[in-house]
Amino acid sequence: MKCVDDFRLQFGKHELVPLMIGGMGVDISTADLALEVARLGGVGHLSDAMLPTVTDRRYKTKFVKEKTKQYKYNVENTDKSAVQFDLGQIAEATRVHVSRAMEAKRGSGMIFVNCMEKLTMNAPRETLRVRLHEALSAGIDGITLSAGLHLGSFGLMADHPRFHDAKLGIIVSSVRALQIFLRKNAKLNRLPDYIVVEGPLAGGHLGFGMDWAEYDLMTIFKEILEFLRAEKLEIPLIPAGGIFTGSDATAFLEAGAAGVQVATRFTATHECGLPEKIVQEYFKASEADVVVNTISPTGYPMRMLTGSPAIGAGIRPNCEAYGYLLDANGSCAYITAYNEQVALHPDAKKIVVMDKTCLCTHMRNFDCWTCGHYTYRLKDTTNRRADGSYQTLTAEHVFKDYQFSKDNKIALPAVEN
Ligand SMILES: Cc1cc2nc3c(=O)[nH]c(=O)nc-3n(C[C@H](O)[C@H](O)[C@H](O)COP(=O)(O)O)c2cc1C
Repeated sequence: MKCVDDFRLQFGKHELVPLMIGGMGVDISTADLALEVARLGGVGHLSDAMLPTVTDRRYKTKFVKEKTKQYKYNVENTDKSAVQFDLGQIAEATRVHVSRAMEAKRGSGMIFVNCMEKLTMNAPRETLRVRLHEALSAGIDGITLSAGLHLGSFGLMADHPRFHDAKLGIIVSSVRALQIFLRKNAKLNRLPDYIVVEGPLAGGHLGFGMDWAEYDLMTIFKEILEFLRAEKLEIPLIPAGGIFTGSDATAFLEAGAAGVQVATRFTATHECGLPEKIVQEYFKASEADVVVNTISPTGYPMRMLTGSPAIGAGIRPNCEAYGYLLDANGSCAYITAYNEQVALHPDAKKIVVMDKTCLCTHMRNFDCWTCGHYTYRLKDTTNRRADGSYQTLTAEHVFKDYQFSKDNKIALPAVEN
């Protein structure tokens, strides 16, 4: 019987353990987690979501304070179109975050950055270009394009000296999305170095509608594999979403996957960015606590725990501080939903907004508990303490469990003293 370690993910001459830990914004897939995965020989991800606030928290920069001060005059205004990001600050935040991680990297693995197109930041093209270019300049090993079709993203990087040397990949959820991406980029003569096919059981935003339950990762994976073979395209294909055990991963590797991308099991590790109290919420979750809803202003369904404080919270839009989801016209679906409730209840002390959530603020504060479908199985991967809480794992333990386990077994950690 085979295990994950019997396979290797090959990028040119570079051989890796075929485990990619997916990007988890905002700073859930921390630099610490990515560094540990790289040390163990796999691929770790940073996230480039809301980097100015992430670097403020980690490296004592003052980006949010400066932006808030600049736009203080606009806080009461429902029109947020004036609230623009300073491209120099985005560049610096990206540079700080990526270069510090790359300088600290040890081991034979790689560190990629997950770049979400849906973070439109009131100037989609300009801000995306800066994020991509600075990550490349800061020495990132690769970039995974996510949350969007990214039809123009390769074009935005084409003039960067590392365009052909960095590993560039795309996340898709259907063969159709991949075909469109390849067609739109044909003239650049630069194929993706890998394709992540993300199924409906993943965490974060889903590339499906609310009919997500009708889709199945293995089926979509096989469709894409067949398409790639028919087109004679030798691009590593990496399935993601609901791969919970080493045996689940091995089944995909035996079916022709070059590697697998996993995330949920790493939300239960010390190295992830979730505060310990919230990790316990993930452990405690039952199947009924894991839901897919449409409260994300991005328009994509999102999976989260029903207990997330973000659900129903009617806070005033906080775009002067954040504003990462403002579209090219300075609009966000949360602002619209919030203003509707204010108009309906002009005298209310507390506004409740059920339709949408202020995702920037709630992700920043770890109040939107996004998670994968199998979060309710996390409790089976550890020991329960006498007080009813669960023992948090190390990333090394979870990584090695994926790497070496067989027969659907999950290795429990050593019991704490
Ligand atoms: C807490 C959490 C946050 C996530 N955030 C992002 C994100 O910001 N961008 C993204 O492309 N994918 C995100 N994902 C998806 C993962 O990168 C990954 O592809 C997927 O969850 C793998 O499935 P698994 O969690 O069942 O192992 C997130 C997943 C989780 C669990």
